[in-house]
Amino acid sequence: MSKSSDQARGPIKIGFQKLSAGASGVVVALAGPELAFGAATAEFLAPILGALSAAAAAERFKGRQGAAFELLSPALPGLERLIVIGLGDGKEPTDWVKLGGQIRGKLPAFAETATVLLDAVSGIDAEAVSDVALGFRLRGYAFDQYKTKKKDDEAAGLSKATFAVADESAAKKAWKLKEGLAEGVETARTLVNEPPNVLTPSEFARRAQALEKLGVEVEILGEKELRKAGFGALLAVGQGSSQESRVAIMRWNGAKDKDAQPVAFVGKGVIFDTGGISIKPSAGMEDMKGDMAGAACVVGLMHALASRKAKVNVVGAIGCVENMPDGGAYRPGDIITGLSGQTIEIINTDAEGRLVLADVLWHVQDRFKPKFMVDLATLTGAILVALGVDNAGLFSNDDELSDRLYKTGLATGEKVWRMPLGPEFDKLIDSKFADMKQTGGRHGGSITAAQFLKRHVNDTPWAHLDIAGTGMGSPASDINRSWGSGWGVRLLDRLVRDYYEE
Ligand code: BES
Ligand code: MN
Ligand code: ZN
Repeated sequence: MSKSSDQARGPIKIGFQKLSAGASGVVVALAGPELAFGAATAEFLAPILGALSAAAAAERFKGRQGAAFELLSPALPGLERLIVIGLGDGKEPTDWVKLGGQIRGKLPAFAETATVLLDAVSGIDAEAVSDVALGFRLRGYAFDQYKTKKKDDEAAGLSKATFAVADESAAKKAWKLKEGLAEGVETARTLVNEPPNVLTPSEFARRAQALEKLGVEVEILGEKELRKAGFGALLAVGQGSSQESRVAIMRWNGAKDKDAQPVAFVGKGVIFDTGGISIKPSAGMEDMKGDMAGAACVVGLMHALASRKAKVNVVGAIGCVENMPDGGAYRPGDIITGLSGQTIEIINTDAEGRLVLADVLWHVQDRFKPKFMVDLATLTGAILVALGVDNAGLFSNDDELSDRLYKTGLATGEKVWRMPLGPEFDKLIDSKFADMKQTGGRHGGSITAAQFLKRHVNDTPWAHLDIAGTGMGSPASDINRSWGSGWGVRLLDRLVRDYYEE
């Protein structure tokens, strides 16, 4: 098998050197308007400034962020190709992660090594450097381990990138803290991309268990334990599948006080959603392998937090089930009892995610008494109708947590948009026969789903992120070319870092 992506060959090597060290081969430089280079870059390029100006004019290059032009074999020793990328005019804050992705995207497919001169008139600090490296690495992710044939013209691809920076040791230190975040996002993407015959609930739990090598404590609950504990809603969803359901609890205790109140993240891990007896139409059903994107994010996040030894106690919990039609499957009309003791009248077996989350949320608040819980779930098609693919739906019983998520969304580019909750929606899920109905009809479908979850969080500050639009089937972006986006790992890593670490 011959492979070319980061995924298959392992991650590319990322190294740092001083700007003064010079560069050869394929080189990237950054420029603002009027071909404004940082001082070190300007000095390095001085001998070819005439050719550069002419090429910039020929390409109508104005230094716009992400715009680019290139010179082939410019008259500098050892230089094969110089790619100049626009930095923008500095009026808008630079999205360094995105820039890193854009840089990677401009490299020729055959380049095996490249040097990037990370230099600008106003300087680029170590944190920004590490963000560029993050975006650069994420752009290279590809999920191709199931492709056994290589096309004849497929290049070997990049194996090493060197970033030339002002402060080499500060950059190395910053990247060390961010490398785990890159791995976390990649882990989440891979879980979303994996086919459902491979990524069964028990295999998912094993992948979560692999975090033990980073010092995460992992506990797996099998069906026997779940039944004994009373996870009746989660188990109802899985009962039509020949695959046993699992719950994985991951704990990272990075705070000084190992008993300090944790923060908690909960993920929907429906490894495949046929809809069950309320079966989905065939067209596009294969996409429902991604119905575990919420759980994938939680595993990726725990990876990121543990790799940088985040100074905080964190609980990650995922409910892994398969929703299948079968003689033993749950059905519309069933009344089930969830872990909270509340009874639920089943209306549509395709509204399974909320049942899984209800039990895991209840378990987490009851057992860990967290400062807050954030759940992530590919919960409703309706959120795609409402918000599209660039914003996740945010539902919350806590304004402070909401504001923090909103701000962090803007800072990371993983944006959330708050949607309402309230008694008028709560009414829609009252049931004639049980404590509540599982669904509330066509109107406000994402909201009634969230309102259902709210009945299972008690008084815990909580936020629900509906990621049906952002977690899978992702449009190609500067930092992601893969179907699974790993959405939420960067958002929540930053939320923890900015607000909850010691
Ligand atoms: N997993 C789906 C939601 C989904 C749809 C995710 C499209 C990603 C893309 C969820 O389990 C589901 O089927 N929801 C139903 C709820 C309905 C039956 C109340 C939906 O959105 O139609
Ligand atoms: Mn469903
Ligand atoms: Zn689903």
